[in-house]
Amino acid sequence: MKSLWILITAGITASAMAADKVDVSKLPPAAKQQGVTYAKDIKPIFEKSCVKCHGPEKQKGKIRVDSLEATLKDGEHGPIVVKGKSADSSLVHSVARLNEDEAMPPEGKGDPLTKEQVGLIRAWIDQGAK
Ligand code: HEC
Repeated sequence: MKSLWILITAGITASAMAADKVDVSKLPPAAKQQGVTYAKDIKPIFEKSCVKCHGPEKQKGKIRVDSLEATLKDGEHGPIVVKGKSADSSLVHSVARLNEDEAMPPEGKGDPLTKEQVGLIRAWIDQGAK
């Protein structure tokens, strides 16, 4: 009986870990463009696809992306942008839809971002999220 419980517990732990793990090798590459900034390149993308849920009216997951300062603040589960490291940033995992449960915009709630848009967001973060 005891070994059965160990098996069940191990199974639950393994599936919980699998849910958290994302395959960053599936991320689209960062754009080659230099001098990417929030104001010039990123804000228009977020305004179109994100701000209705992460802006002045609603802050789903305690996240706002309607200004640079707000985007760099922690959400419910910690930072969403790791400056210089787009592959480690959960915002990038979300918009690249690596995990359908945490994909942004959520399934059926707006058009997924294009590979080019995700690449631009990656370049922005890799260049220091300015
Ligand atoms: C229709 C509403 C809606 C839209 C549009 C939307 N989100 Fe979200 N977002 C949510 C909700 C709800 C949560 C909280 C999910 C949870 O806590 O399980 C969330 C959570 C998040 C998270 C936190 C996930 C994490 O890693 O902790 C990030 C990052 C995020 N959104 C980014 C974005 C970005 C960027 C866009 C635009 C490309 C966007 N969202 C568009 C509703 C939305």
